[in-house]
Amino acid sequence: MLIDPSKFIGTEGITHLCTGGESPMLKTHLDAVQRFSEDKLLGEEGRRLMEEVSLGCKEKVGRLFGVQANDIAFLTSTSEAINLLVYALDWNPGDNVVVADVEFPSDVLPWTLLKEQGVDLKIVDNNNWHIDLDALDKAIDENTKVVNVSHVSFFTGQRLPLKELSEIVHRKNALLCLDVTHSAGVVPVEAQYADFVVSSCYKWLMAAHGVGIFYWNRERVPHLKPPFVGWHTPANMPDWKEPGAYIPRTDATRFTPGNETWIGVYILDNALDCLLGLGIEKIEEHALQLSGRVWNGLTDMGWEVITPVAPEERAGNVCFTAADVNVVTQALEAQDVLIFGAYGGVGRARVSTHFYNSHTDVDRFFDVMQDIPVTRPASNAH
Ligand SMILES: Cc1ncc(COP(=O)(O)O)c(C=O)c1O
Repeated sequence: MLIDPSKFIGTEGITHLCTGGESPMLKTHLDAVQRFSEDKLLGEEGRRLMEEVSLGCKEKVGRLFGVQANDIAFLTSTSEAINLLVYALDWNPGDNVVVADVEFPSDVLPWTLLKEQGVDLKIVDNNNWHIDLDALDKAIDENTKVVNVSHVSFFTGQRLPLKELSEIVHRKNALLCLDVTHSAGVVPVEAQYADFVVSSCYKWLMAAHGVGIFYWNRERVPHLKPPFVGWHTPANMPDWKEPGAYIPRTDATRFTPGNETWIGVYILDNALDCLLGLGIEKIEEHALQLSGRVWNGLTDMGWEVITPVAPEERAGNVCFTAADVNVVTQALEAQDVLIFGAYGGVGRARVSTHFYNSHTDVDRFFDVMQDIPVTRPASNAH
């Protein structure tokens, strides 16, 4: 492990292999909440401090993603960020959006709202659980406006190569919306390859709910209008004789109509201090070492692992199928080993390894797994 487990709240006796669902909270997050509470009391000065923390936090996200702080907005969730794009982009009948069939529903459902405007949704099939770049390439045509995929799949754990992905998408003049919810915080994210990057913060970024990251590549998409407006949208106070004539802020904060979830931003800021302090390359190396052990151990036992084996094609998630996933997760939970199981009743389980996990955690996982009979779902379909 890269950090003492005693730095987390309540993890004693728990083998926590489920950051892909929810991360544990750092004890120092309580100090961050205390700082927020103290600042909130300070009137105008307090608000200034909140804005300062938020700007500092955007700088840290910028460092993690290799982009500028003013291209980052804090929304409330990944789901909100994707919906924002549905309303912010201009659409024509005949346009299409390309997604893959191993995506989280929030990366798919918002685009279905465009059906009434004649915008098609094209869903690329997995190839034995693998999303092939060739298949994405074939699906993208001259009418493709957006390709929305995850850097690391929540379902299979597959990591896509960003440079190659961006070349495929941009060659056909489409826009790349990249969900980095399962990569940010555990492997490097080179955001500049995408046009938009969205992320939740309560998993690998070790923060809490209520803050979703939205990166806007202003160089590639300079004229993105804010679809939802409020007092934070305009560059200046509106003229009350003609309030609609305001000029939006030039940076990504134009997409945050009201106050940010400041308390969540304080927590994220604290989490980023921890992650950046350790260094993302070191975290990646550690997580890959552990996830490699999980991959090998499960495969040796006879489970069907659906995550690619190559380190560059995976991150911290290792996923496997089981006839009844609840049997597996409940047997583990009974021994205080936590993983995430079925989503929507589908027969796959996910083991997540992050910087706070140790080889002992992986040993403990296999100690329990050896007593669970190996099973497979009746069919691979999902
Ligand atoms: C890839 C991915 N995107 C988005 C989400 C949901 O994010 P939010 O709750 O921030 O909308 C999840 C949740 O598990 C996810 O796995």
